[in-house]
Amino acid sequence: MTQIRSLFATRLYRASLSEHGPAVDSAELESSCWSIAEDDEAGQEWCDANSYPGYTSYASLTDLPWRFPIFAALVEALDKHVAAFAEDLEFDLGDRKLVVEDIWINILPEGGTHSSHIHPHSVISGTTYVSMPEGTSALKLEDPRLGFMMAAPARRKGCREELKTFVYEAPSVGDVLLWESWLRHEVPPNMSEEERISVSFNYKWE
Ligand SMILES: [Fe+2]
Repeated sequence: MTQIRSLFATRLYRASLSEHGPAVDSAELESSCWSIAEDDEAGQEWCDANSYPGYTSYASLTDLPWRFPIFAALVEALDKHVAAFAEDLEFDLGDRKLVVEDIWINILPEGGTHSSHIHPHSVISGTTYVSMPEGTSALKLEDPRLGFMMAAPARRKGCREELKTFVYEAPSVGDVLLWESWLRHEVPPNMSEEERISVSFNYKWE
């Protein structure tokens, strides 16, 4: 009897940030992102010097959870999501844990984009969504085997999700997405007039 199975799974985790607690107030998180961005002159200069559209704290603020209680609460919530995802992935972590390595704010204005990338040196990466105006970009995820598909035909429109070469995931405010850090992803141009605000993070095995 014919048997066709899917092998070598790429898992994408999506949940409400509040699912495991503690509650992180999204309005407070949004206003914190704005006030941090406004005060962070080193970050603004870095964004200007590197032609980064909008604002990121990635290069300038490495201690958000220690400076701002709301980020400490956020990391506490994310730890639980990452642990749940590690369970799903059936990682054998031994006596080590997945711990946050970096966490940073992204404020992407109209037309702003974040080109295709991976997150080296980490195990799990992800984003929680703080402001997602109508019409703003989804997250675009790429089949990690794309480079091997030299002669393969394109898939039919509307093919099963697990067979798609690119998946566009459109999260809502308060959602958290997690993936393994080797999974290439990008943020296509923000077509909304309003800023798309998110907080991204990396977890390492320590
Ligand atoms: Fe990323």
